[in-house]
Amino acid sequence: MKQQREQWSSKLGFLMAAAGSAIGLGAIWKFPYVVGTSGGGAFFLIFLLFTLFIGLPMLLAEFIIGRGSQKDAITAYRTFAPGTRWDLIGIMGIISSCILLAFYSVVGGWIIIYLVEAISGRLSGLDKGEYSHLFNSLIANPTVAVAAQFVFMLITILIVAKGVQKGIERASQIMMPALFIAFIILIIRSLTLSDVGEGIKFFLYPNFSSLSSKAILYALGQSFFALSVGFSVMVTYSSYLSKKENLPKSATIIVIMNIFISLLAGLAIFPAVFSFGFKPAAGPGLLFVVLPAVFDKMPFGMVFLVIFLLLFLFATFTSAFSLLEIIVAAITKGDNTKRKKVTWITGMIIFIIGIPSALSYGVLSDFKIFGKTPFDLSDYLCSNILLPLGALSIAIFTPLKIPRKKLWEEFKAGMTGGRRLFALWFLLIRYIVPIAIIIVFLDVIGVFKW
Ligand code: PFF
Repeated sequence: MKQQREQWSSKLGFLMAAAGSAIGLGAIWKFPYVVGTSGGGAFFLIFLLFTLFIGLPMLLAEFIIGRGSQKDAITAYRTFAPGTRWDLIGIMGIISSCILLAFYSVVGGWIIIYLVEAISGRLSGLDKGEYSHLFNSLIANPTVAVAAQFVFMLITILIVAKGVQKGIERASQIMMPALFIAFIILIIRSLTLSDVGEGIKFFLYPNFSSLSSKAILYALGQSFFALSVGFSVMVTYSSYLSKKENLPKSATIIVIMNIFISLLAGLAIFPAVFSFGFKPAAGPGLLFVVLPAVFDKMPFGMVFLVIFLLLFLFATFTSAFSLLEIIVAAITKGDNTKRKKVTWITGMIIFIIGIPSALSYGVLSDFKIFGKTPFDLSDYLCSNILLPLGALSIAIFTPLKIPRKKLWEEFKAGMTGGRRLFALWFLLIRYIVPIAIIIVFLDVIGVFKW
């Protein structure tokens, strides 16, 4: 017998799970290093604008599609546009989620490696050069990198196979607030180091002359990546939501939390980068190299580092769960008897797809496709091409295929008034979002340069 579709058990549960999907490597690991390589403050400002005027309306659109249809990422599009191929948006989202999770699990593995190193005491008392060297040699070791990636995928599979709701809901409610607190402690230390001004200036002072078209595309990709928008993951999560929930409010809370965590990550990292003489453009290793150096300068630093890494790992898991959940939900179509098998098979396939990424900093470092290692290529493809393309399709689909009355009905549930806000959202999703995404793409391919 087909079991009934699961639902989130509480309002807060949904909010925490959706915030858990959003907050992860994007805000904590990727954001500081992309700011670092894309020129600092100007990038941050553009990222903020994209997040508020493009990311937020997109998140709301995904919520409306999910809750409005109460279906998985593929069936949702079929529900609103039967007999058409708009369901390709969901299919693309699922394929893209596989690619993203494959390299995401590699970075998840790095956190596990660091956790082991921190617990064993090997991360304390090193100097600047030694921290970089340690990170590079750890992730270059093929056995360590692949084993850690495997452990990360294994835990993701075990939890998703159980059905995320109860476990994730409960754990998220404790871990998310704890993560905020851990960040505050870290920032206090970082801001009391010598030479803080330069780091703050780099991070927050917008110097537009350093902003390239590529950096603008990265800012767009980063805002989608950090909000989990574009792959229909949020369609899937909101499909488990009751009709009473106030969607605009949930979306706004998630966006604010996400911006706040990105800001905290930047404030924690950049003052330390400059005080210790690291390079802001160090790339994907930035956080891993700078963090232990900051913690090392605190009393009980290694204890705090372990706590921080645990929370960071948890934030990464809650995003990974959502990436696997969208795939499992679309294949099982709500039939929970198939969940376990489907989760194991897809999870293992994703692990295998991720192996070349895990080896990208070691044995495969010279293996390049389009001039990029498998790790860089997957990241680039997901962040800067697949997410914006997915978002563009969803922005076109929503006003075109969902009747305005239905959009309004989903928008206004749980609130009083809201007509003006709805008109603003509709304007953004119908015109501003698609036009802005297209302009950013055209700019990158050089259409506006003479
Ligand atoms: N938002 C997640 C993070 O910032 O780590 C990553 C992510 C999850 C992106 C789910 C896209 C997605 F669909």
